Amino acid sequence: MPDARSIPLGRIYDDLAFLMPLITPPAEYAEEAAHWRTLLREKLGSGRHAILELGVGGGHNLSHFAAEFDATAVDLSGAMLAHCRRLNPGVKLVQGDMRTVRLGETFAAVLIHDAISYMLNEADLAAAFATAAAHLRPGGVFITSPDRYRETFQSPSIDHATHGAGDREVTYFEYTHDPEPADTIVESIITCLIRSPGELRIEHDRHLTGLFPRATWLRLLQAAGFTVETRIFALPDWPHPYELLVGTLA
Ligand SMILES: C[S@@+](CC[C@H](N)C(=O)[O-])C[C@H]1O[C@@H](n2cnc3c(N)ncnc32)[C@H](O)[C@@H]1O
Repeated sequence: MPDARSIPLGRIYDDLAFLMPLITPPAEYAEEAAHWRTLLREKLGSGRHAILELGVGGGHNLSHFAAEFDATAVDLSGAMLAHCRRLNPGVKLVQGDMRTVRLGETFAAVLIHDAISYMLNEADLAAAFATAAAHLRPGGVFITSPDRYRETFQSPSIDHATHGAGDREVTYFEYTHDPEPADTIVESIITCLIRSPGELRIEHDRHLTGLFPRATWLRLLQAAGFTVETRIFALPDWPHPYELLVGTLA
C-alpha cells in the first residue's frame, strides 16, 4: 500500500470509472430513490416537470425516476457523464461544476444527491446552494442528502462490498477518517480488488469530502433563500438515519 498522500484523487470518476456500475449497482438505489421520487411528487404534483441534478455521477439514483420527468444533469467528470448517458438515455447532460455552472434556465426541482459531499468548506457548500437557487423557479424545491454530520461521524468509518457482473467481480474497501478535526475535510482511502479470469488487479483511490455540523447545513440553506424542512428515513444497510434536506424557494 503506498503512502496515502501519494494516491491520486478521484480515480473512480476518471480512469477507474468503468468500475462504478459494480461498486454501487444502480439496483441498490431502489429504496432510497423511492423516497426522492415520493418527495418530488408530493412537492410538484403529477405531470412531467423539469428537474435538474447537480453532480449526477452515473445517475444510479436518478435512473429510478428519470423517465417520469424532463431531466437535465450536470457533473464535473466526462467519464461519469458517459456512464450516466448509457443508463439514462433521455437525460440532457452538461459537463460543469455545481459551484459555478449557470445553465440559463430554471427548473421545478434541483437535486444534489451524495455529490454534495465533495463540498469541502462553507464557501463550496454555499456556492452549490446558490447554484441550486439560481436554477429554481419561484416556489421550486431543492433536495439534498448529507452523507454525514460532524456530530455523528465516527472516525474511522469502514465500508466494503463485493459485486459481480459477467466474468468480472469487484471488492472494494473504503476507509474514511478525519485527519484534522479542526477543519471541515475527511479523507477516504479506497482499495478495489478487481477479479477477472486469470487476474486479480488491485487499485487504490483517495477522496476528500466535507464534514459540517448539521446547523451549518441549515444556516447556509437559509442564507441561500430556502425555507428548510427535513425528512428522516430508515434505510436497510444505512448506518444511521437517512436525512433529506428539503429547501423551498420563496
Ligand atoms: C458519488 S458520485 C454521484 C453518484 C450519484 N449520486 C448516483 O446516484 O449515481 C459523485 C459525483 O460528484 C461529482 N462531482 C464532484 N464534485 C463536483 C462538482 N464540484 N461539480 C459537479 N460534480 C461534482 C463527481 O464527478 C462524481 O461523479
